[in-house]
Amino acid sequence: MIYLDSAATTFQKPPAVETAMVDALRTMSSPGRGGYPAAMAAADAAFDCRSELAELYGLKNPEQVVFTMNATHALNIAVKTLVSPGGRVVISGYEHNAVTRPLAALEADVTIAEAPLFYPEAVSESFAGLVDGGVDAVICSHVSNVFGFIQPVEAVAAVCRTQGVPLIVDDSQAAGVLPLNLTELGAAFIAMPGHKGLYGPQGTGVLLCGEGVNPCTLLEGGTGSLSIQQEMPEFLPDRLEAGTHNMPGIAGLLAGVRYVRRRGLEAICLRERQLAHMAAEELRGLPGVTVYAQQGLHAQAGVLSFTAEGWETEALGQALAERGIAVRAGLHCAPLAHRSAGTLGSGTVRLSFSDFNTPEEVSSLVSAVREILA
Ligand code: ALA
Repeated sequence: MIYLDSAATTFQKPPAVETAMVDALRTMSSPGRGGYPAAMAAADAAFDCRSELAELYGLKNPEQVVFTMNATHALNIAVKTLVSPGGRVVISGYEHNAVTRPLAALEADVTIAEAPLFYPEAVSESFAGLVDGGVDAVICSHVSNVFGFIQPVEAVAAVCRTQGVPLIVDDSQAAGVLPLNLTELGAAFIAMPGHKGLYGPQGTGVLLCGEGVNPCTLLEGGTGSLSIQQEMPEFLPDRLEAGTHNMPGIAGLLAGVRYVRRRGLEAICLRERQLAHMAAEELRGLPGVTVYAQQGLHAQAGVLSFTAEGWETEALGQALAERGIAVRAGLHCAPLAHRSAGTLGSGTVRLSFSDFNTPEEVSSLVSAVREILA
């Protein structure tokens, strides 16, 4: 199989991830539940994983790193902490249902910043005018999960700091690819999956909490701390981590994050961008194909969407699957992003790359699309 669906989850993991998960099953029990070796091994792995992520994202304290089951879980905590029922919120035009559905459940008053927001100039010209002291939060994805467009979260954060409005960054497609510093941004929360560009297993996610935020609990239960008390602890990460931890997942995530840090975000990003750029150039040359890409590399991460005249996107995705090529087609749980780009009616076929893809795989994909369209 040629796997080009890493925006859904990375399928090829560094070998150390599998080894770490098997070791965790053999050697780790529950962190914070005892001083015996198996409990301590779990506590050490959890602490090491928090520390690696804290260093990667410029957090002063590893305890601001909270484990969740995925990015959706992390985003739900962030959104429900900051946005009150019926409250006002400003979001980018490229947000995922993991943001828009919790907002719908809160019946929030949502203002969508006019697309494209992926140029810093657009932030100062139009975005700043939307944000004022009456807004509960601003929510912005770093990279569109459909198109790979990089949004200028630093410029968005600057507006939020000036206006005193809390910012939530959805880093789902950028984690492990593009750097971000929570302390410099002054963001309230950054949410991400563990199982995409950080190369951990499915069932892992991370919520980074800014200093001084007081997150709401979606779950209450045992934390191994303050057990006599019936309210959840106020302190992190215990406040948000009720119940037994996913230790094989966290150990696998630790190995994934270490892989990313050793390899370097810049090198990973360059590889993915080059593959996306190559795919864009070659697909553009096929008759009837429209590629939704930025010119040049600066505004595009390793995700790329295209359509082909006369083809339903799902049918084209299925035809590729039958040739052993895994892509995702349709709306990608992000109807808002498609509306912003004008592809809501058709959806797109999406290619998404990881550090393990090769130019040969891109050539095979392009040949397969050529053959199918002929
Ligand atoms: N949000 C993920 C995707 O884009 C699951 O496929």
